[in-house]
Amino acid sequence: MSDRLRGKIAIVTGAGSRGPGLGNGKAAAILFAREGARVLCVDQRKERAEETVGIIRGEGGEATAFAADVTRAADCEGMVGEASERWGGLDILHNNVGIESRKDLVETQEDEWDRVMGVDLKSMFLATRAAVPAMDKRGGGAVICVSSIAGMRGHGRTAYAAAKAGVIGFVRSVAVQLGPKGIRVNAIAPGTVWTPMVQDLGPEARERRRRASPLGTEGTGWDIGWGAVYLASDEARWVTGQTLVIDAGLTVTTRG
Ligand SMILES: NC(=O)c1ccc[n+]([C@@H]2O[C@H](COP(=O)([O-])OP(=O)(O)OC[C@H]3O[C@@H](n4cnc5c(N)ncnc54)[C@H](O)[C@@H]3O)[C@@H](O)[C@H]2O)c1
Repeated sequence: MSDRLRGKIAIVTGAGSRGPGLGNGKAAAILFAREGARVLCVDQRKERAEETVGIIRGEGGEATAFAADVTRAADCEGMVGEASERWGGLDILHNNVGIESRKDLVETQEDEWDRVMGVDLKSMFLATRAAVPAMDKRGGGAVICVSSIAGMRGHGRTAYAAAKAGVIGFVRSVAVQLGPKGIRVNAIAPGTVWTPMVQDLGPEARERRRRASPLGTEGTGWDIGWGAVYLASDEARWVTGQTLVIDAGLTVTTRG
């Protein structure tokens, strides 16, 4: 590893994984630590964050688990306060949290719409708003919000698509506002990566997802995590308001 994040203090939300294997948040947290960052691993389920912390510490990295529900403003302020008190500030906020809804317009009930908007979109607003004062004190920072190619293409998953498209709009708006403070705000739009979030789809869907893209290979949390490392690092110092699509080319083909 090349110490690309040496000396940086990072928060990763949804840093655990909902099941066995490697989610996007877990992979990003591990890669941030491998690149030298100190990482506050935030998850609603503390034991999930602790598992990621265990992996990081096992590799000689520095991380701490923190329990927070990022749909709550007080919890978002709490996680920023924890990183600031423990390590002296905040440089990187990786807003990874997200839940899926696979229902179409007619099937989607109001409570499900509200839940998905809360977790997938409102959490980005609350966490980013909480992070700004701490980043401002450090003279800048990097915020990364996990969207999805589901927010860029038409398909049946109404609430999920709307929330993930909202993330892209949020990032553009906030990047303009925070640019003068030296805070960069970008999105990552993962394609059909194989993570614990989608393991209930089963082996046939897994194979279909793999074959659909031009590259024809399966993506993992590592592929998304490396994008996050780039956007978090000073190598991306001139990049803000963008959406980095990591999808093996799926969005540029008419196949799939
Ligand atoms: N797997 C895919 O194909 C795919 C594709 C596109 C985008 N994504 C996005 O990737 C992100 C998820 O990645 P993952 O693999 O880490 O998911 P995951 O479900 O494995 O892990 C997310 C973690 O977030 C936690 N969490 C859920 N709600 C929370 C809340 N309100 N507050 C705090 N923690 C909460 C869960 O406990 C879980 O441990 C989501 O934003 C998802 O939409 C995934």
